[in-house]
Amino acid sequence: MENFVFRNPTRIVFGKGSIAQIKDLIGAKERVLVTYGGGSIKKNGVYEQVMAALAGRTVFEFGGIQPNPLYETLLEAVALVKQQKITYLLAVGGGSVLDGTKFIAAAAKYRGKEPWDILAKSAQVKAALPLGAVLTLPATGSESNGFAVISRKSTQEKRAFGSELGFPQFSVLDPEVTMSLPAKQVRNGIVDAFVHVMEQYATYPVNAAIQDRQAEAIFKTLIEEGPKTLKDTQNYDARANLVWSATQALNGWIGQGVPQDWSTHMIGHELTAFYGVDHAESLAVVMPVLFRHEMPRKQAKLAQYARRVWGVAETDDAKAAEMGLVKTVDFYHSLGMKTTLADYGISPQDAAKKVSERFASRASKIGEHQAIDAAATGQILLAC
Ligand code: NZQ
Ligand code: ZN
Repeated sequence: MENFVFRNPTRIVFGKGSIAQIKDLIGAKERVLVTYGGGSIKKNGVYEQVMAALAGRTVFEFGGIQPNPLYETLLEAVALVKQQKITYLLAVGGGSVLDGTKFIAAAAKYRGKEPWDILAKSAQVKAALPLGAVLTLPATGSESNGFAVISRKSTQEKRAFGSELGFPQFSVLDPEVTMSLPAKQVRNGIVDAFVHVMEQYATYPVNAAIQDRQAEAIFKTLIEEGPKTLKDTQNYDARANLVWSATQALNGWIGQGVPQDWSTHMIGHELTAFYGVDHAESLAVVMPVLFRHEMPRKQAKLAQYARRVWGVAETDDAKAAEMGLVKTVDFYHSLGMKTTLADYGISPQDAAKKVSERFASRASKIGEHQAIDAAATGQILLAC
């Protein structure tokens, strides 16, 4: 196992009716900016619950944060924060609202010229406003990590940053408020969480037994509970299991002391930036092809995955690993997730050219061995 230092400071408030607890989690004197997306929270009762919990405080609102939140929009929120002397941010929504709010928190305190540098030049986040979250979509793990992914319309870019200051101070996870999600978003959430576990698991063995077993527990829970909650959206326990699985998939625990491979995400972000394909859709397309491309390096862990998660009995590692990948793609299909570029009307040739050119311009080398360069990225996309 590799060395690590780990701290996750987010207080999780989980369960039915939990939004009311916000009243004890944000100081009475804070000037609070509630951030949200395109309006789902005004249709499912979440907005009313949040406002009731904040009663007595000075509250402002900023709505309209898009899926794949746009830098251009978030800068408007930063201006409002400065103008109204906001002291606390409360993000209410899915990963996009949470990520966007983390960026607002950092950009509002940023002293450099252009806050985009936090994303494009990894400018250090030295200060940020405190934030809390009410999660309405189980998928990204943003509710309990310090990462955010922001898109820029003018340049068709999608970039990420991570900071200790990006962790929400608290996150309210009430599975009931996710029951208004359309099936497509539930499916996306299951696949996103699944791939998060994959990218921390399917690298090479370092004898991290507890991390492996925890990751396998999340895989198996998603495989068992995912289809249940997709079919029976009002089944509280199935939804609660999805919510907690998605949080654990990317709250840091399973990634400690192990190599990680975020290359599927890196390539997937480019597909979203160029073609607008949903985040989880991009991952379902890239992951199987990328893993086959990297098979010699990933074979041992993928064989273990196939045997422990899918019960594959094959003793030959190469065959078992391939069987595990086939089972994974079948699982995505069973959820209604399509897995080729053509399924989304994207030309593999066009994607290979655009993304490999972009990676070449950034000299990106990705994967747990930094073995995937711009040319390899092009080959992978041609086969997607
Ligand atoms: O905008 P509203 O009206 O709220 O509607 C949203 C949006 O249209 C809707 N929705 C959310 N909760 C709902 C609901 N509709 C009905 N009922 C509810 N309870 O769902 C739509 C999608 O929301 P979005 O927040 O975009 O989805 P998701 O949570 O999948 O977030 C995706 C974003 O997170 C980033 C992705 O790249 C993408 O930009 N990621 C963030 C990560 C992180 N911070 O660690 C890691 C991930 O890998 C990912 O990259
Ligand atoms: Zn993701």
